Amino acid sequence: MTLRVVVNGAAGRMGQSAVNAIEKDPELTLAGVSGRHDNLENVIKSAQADIVVDLTNAHSVYQNSLTILNAGCHPVIGTSGLTEAQVAELQTLAKQKSLGGIVVPNFSIGAVLMMNLAAQAAKFFSYAEIIEYHHEKKADAPSCTALCTAEMLKTAPRDKQADQPIKHTVPGSRGAVHNDIPVHAVRMPGVIAKQQIIFGGLDETLTLEHHSISREAFMPGLLVACKQVVHLEGLLYGLEKILEIE
Ligand SMILES: NC(=O)c1ccc[n+]([C@@H]2O[C@H](COP(=O)([O-])OP(=O)(O)OC[C@H]3O[C@@H](n4cnc5c(N)ncnc54)[C@H](OP(=O)(O)O)[C@@H]3O)[C@@H](O)[C@H]2O)c1
Repeated sequence: MTLRVVVNGAAGRMGQSAVNAIEKDPELTLAGVSGRHDNLENVIKSAQADIVVDLTNAHSVYQNSLTILNAGCHPVIGTSGLTEAQVAELQTLAKQKSLGGIVVPNFSIGAVLMMNLAAQAAKFFSYAEIIEYHHEKKADAPSCTALCTAEMLKTAPRDKQADQPIKHTVPGSRGAVHNDIPVHAVRMPGVIAKQQIIFGGLDETLTLEHHSISREAFMPGLLVACKQVVHLEGLLYGLEKILEIE
């Protein structure tokens, strides 16, 4: 028997890719689609859904997540914008309802692996910098992935007093500093999303690099999340929790 999935936000860019990917997967059935003008609870009921994938926007994602759990469905939340407090409240509700769910800030398996590999590498290097590249229409900088990566990096100790003092001829030339890690954001046409993490040690550097060339890069992770979510206990945060890399 296949798992019945509703996609909320189905008319959006990510939603359309999700609908196509789910329709092609023999283990999943696209049971329904929902958008801004639909009543999500009614769609879930008439679709007899097991799972709802939410790909909407920051304003509606919390209410959608409550609706999904209250309807007895497993949420796969890809939408950005849930606060830590909201995730904690959803975790409490999922526990009360005995429902597995997952919030996935980044469905890209490569990006998740890059961040985890970087956290490992950081222990062995005392210098690390991040360069992220996105298309010129991206509204924010630095990217959430870059900030999240910086937060995961706990570099080896070094004597910062011994660093050469720098005269910043142009302010900002060493990038924005987050969690003590310089982060440089490049915006230009010809690129979708790319990130490099460069580590420096005695006479060596190590560069980890990840590219995604379209939203299709998110689909393998999204499909894994749909298939795993029904087996989860409680609401997890992050694709890495189900990729067995921790
Ligand atoms: N987790 C990941 O890996 C990942 C990757 C990429 C993007 N994202 C996130 O996924 C979300 C969607 O991105 P996108 O690029 O697909 O955005 P998008 O193209 O703007 O699509 C969002 C869709 O949601 C609809 N919508 C808005 N409010 C709704 C509501 N209350 N109920 C149901 N549908 C509603 C929108 O309808 P209207 O057009 O009528 O407003 C639109 O069709 C964003 O939060 C983005 O940051 C996550």
